[in-house]
Amino acid sequence: MQVSELSQKQVTEALKAALGVLAEISNAGELRAQKGNVIGENSALSKLNALIKSLPNDQKAEAGKLIGAAKAELQAAWDAKESELAKAERAEQLESERVDLTAAPRYLRRGARHPLSLLMDQISDVFVGMGWEIADGPELENEWFNFDALNFHPDHPARAMQDTFFVSPVENHLLLRTHTSPVQVRSLLERELPVYILCPGRVFRTDELDATHTPVFHQVEGLAIDKGLTMADLRGTLEHFARVMFGPDAKIRLRPSYFPFTEPSAELDVWHPGAKGGARWVEWGGCGMVNPNVLLAAGIDPELYSGFAFGMGIERTLMFRNGVTDMHDMVEADVRFSTQFGSVI
Ligand code: DAH
Repeated sequence: MQVSELSQKQVTEALKAALGVLAEISNAGELRAQKGNVIGENSALSKLNALIKSLPNDQKAEAGKLIGAAKAELQAAWDAKESELAKAERAEQLESERVDLTAAPRYLRRGARHPLSLLMDQISDVFVGMGWEIADGPELENEWFNFDALNFHPDHPARAMQDTFFVSPVENHLLLRTHTSPVQVRSLLERELPVYILCPGRVFRTDELDATHTPVFHQVEGLAIDKGLTMADLRGTLEHFARVMFGPDAKIRLRPSYFPFTEPSAELDVWHPGAKGGARWVEWGGCGMVNPNVLLAAGIDPELYSGFAFGMGIERTLMFRNGVTDMHDMVEADVRFSTQFGSVI
């Protein structure tokens, strides 16, 4: 551009062009992007402004005024546009974030641990509080641990196909454990004596799911092996356990029974003061003094050591303790069932 061409017309045209561009801009992003071209270094007015220094001295003041006025006008238009777009942008944002206070709320339901898990934790706490350890064992178990080592005779009916899930091929002698008692022998083989262990866990039997049965359920097994343990220790332990679970007025009763792995064996009943429909005796589990054959299977001298064991069903305990009447509630995983027992994490 020639210095001589710097005329009023050029300034007016540059201003008009810049205002034209400005008028076309419709959002704040575009405005920011165009800043250099419209009012910045690259704008036509700035370029004209840069030519002033090359003008003859007597024309400089005039040209400076002319361009200064045009720049001021453009800047004012720019500022107005900028605030207009900012306002529009804010309005749009507010609109997009509008909250309909009259809409029906969607409550996010908080989860809850399953009451069976809570109960197993609670039972574990009772025994850990007495210095016992928590033990576990595999759910896919060897027939030897599940039956033989526990003194089940080879013809014992509990082994029969109708109770036990055997895993094919049967010659592998693998099964889904039918009770937590195999953990007794595993613990004795793995640990140093004395042994005081509690094993909550999942067990399996070929039952149909109905109101009181489920093919997958839970038991808790207790085992204490030490020098000089007697049935009085068994009684005292179970009585304490019963009182923590069912209140200070709970008591227990042992009725003679038979299990291959205990001798003598007993059925354990608990006096449940808070039972639905009034205090009463409830069958709770099995127990007894560990059969010397079980100690021998684990390589322990029954002349030196003795002990007791007990086992009970967790589902059954939850049913009569908390008045759950249908097993389906425990397996259907409906969070509304679980939250009734609190939302302990
Ligand atoms: N294992 C037994 C069952 O599943 C329960 C049981 C009874 C466990 C007596 C024991 C016990 O430890 O001493 O029915």
